[in-house]
Amino acid sequence: MKQNIVILGMQWGDEGKGKIVDVLTRTANYVVRYHGGHNAGHTLVVNNKKIILHLVPSGILHNHVICLLGNGVVISPQGLIDEINMLSGLGISLDGRLFISHHCPLILSYHIKMDILREHLLDTQCIGTTKKGIGPAYEDKVSRFGLQVRDLYKESVLREKLKRIVDYYNFQFVHYYKSTPVNYDTILEELLLSKKVFKNRTKDIALLLQKAEYENKKIIFEGAQGALLDLDHGTFPYVTSSNSTIGGIFTGSGARLQQVHFILGIVKAYCTRVGSGPFPTELTDLTDDYFVKVGKEFGSTTGRRRRTGWLDLVLLKRMVILNSISSLCLTKLDVLDGLSEIKVCIAYKNLHTDQVIKNPFSCLNWDEFKPVYHILTGWNKSIKGITIFSQLPFLAQQYISYIEHYIGHGVSIDMISTGPDRLDTIIVRDTFNIEYI
Ligand code: GDP
Ligand code: IMO
Ligand code: MG
Repeated sequence: MKQNIVILGMQWGDEGKGKIVDVLTRTANYVVRYHGGHNAGHTLVVNNKKIILHLVPSGILHNHVICLLGNGVVISPQGLIDEINMLSGLGISLDGRLFISHHCPLILSYHIKMDILREHLLDTQCIGTTKKGIGPAYEDKVSRFGLQVRDLYKESVLREKLKRIVDYYNFQFVHYYKSTPVNYDTILEELLLSKKVFKNRTKDIALLLQKAEYENKKIIFEGAQGALLDLDHGTFPYVTSSNSTIGGIFTGSGARLQQVHFILGIVKAYCTRVGSGPFPTELTDLTDDYFVKVGKEFGSTTGRRRRTGWLDLVLLKRMVILNSISSLCLTKLDVLDGLSEIKVCIAYKNLHTDQVIKNPFSCLNWDEFKPVYHILTGWNKSIKGITIFSQLPFLAQQYISYIEHYIGHGVSIDMISTGPDRLDTIIVRDTFNIEYI
């Protein structure tokens, strides 16, 4: 039986999921996105060429692979058109290789406007969203009010539904936000024009996945964002509006429980976050500048400077357990090359009681806690592009062992990324059966 793999970000996103999906896709048949939208920015580097994908799954560069967008993905028709055009400009055809669920909610201009107005109103309390309309689009899904891809095929119903929605949004824009209304005719026209991008691409994705199982095809499930941005299990309210933890796969694609064989958690060797919200190990000193410079820590979607900090093993362990992680892939290890000492957070100290706790599992007020660090010695030499584990300096191997030992639960680091390129990868153990050469 071919082993299906789930790729899950373990932190606040941008762990390097896109690169790892691309690496693992070599031996896969399908790559499935099941949540989020064009808020994601997944970077692939092949032959020194960088490609950033937002909606199209990161397996697309492998010609034999079929890419699927499950019902849990919110789709901006314009975002999708732009991305398809970008790929075809690179000579990558999506014909017969990209299929979309009829049930995907649509992101339209009123969602984006609402996202922007809300963030503006929240001012210093803002979430720091990507301003792509993600939250409002998911709200319309939950309230059973919004448009889905399938609505495009019944024009009279579409016109009627859109009218109701635009009136509802415009009332809020004008009366509550004191802003300008959106134009119904413009949105309708754009929607009707966008129909062609969905033509011959909409399918029952759950059924397609069942067929894939029957035919013994190999599937990669590509998570977006990271577990700490999960709507239910993340650092609420500073999260995204979908489930980036393991459960999102089932609700967002219709995959069967039996189709998930291996869950690979992707963890950056340090931490980053874009947007607001708690970040206990955040750095604001020269090491922050170092991480931003060496790790090129600027958002792939918005270009914002990412906040950086030390690896938080307490939060990582929580997410490993919560997501039933099979093994971990440690990315951007090469970014630590120039540091003489490396810290990892191994516990939290309550500032009022001095109590040291290892599992602040349902932390309500991060301001009351201070990270407790373990300090390791840096290896101070370049590991960029190394592909064989034994060639890593002893101190780098020690860093890896320390993380594995802390996490426990039989979860080892089976893959290591030593650079942005597809080839800068160490397969420590091929537990995921990718027959890597
Ligand atoms: P994703 O959203 O999880 O796919 O990650 P992003 O693409 O947003 O951000 C990861 C960034 O790190 C991208 O610029 C990648 O090209 C880059 N990257 C990925 N893995 C490595 C690595 O091992 N080392 C270095 N230096 N860069 C990496
Ligand atoms: P990938 O898949 C990093 C963050 C935003 C903001 C919060 C809510 O590339 O890892 P949203 O627009 O989703 O309502 O914003 O979530 N965010 C991400 N941060 N990587 C991402 O995706 C993100 N997608 C959303 O910065 O803090
Ligand atoms: Mg990203």
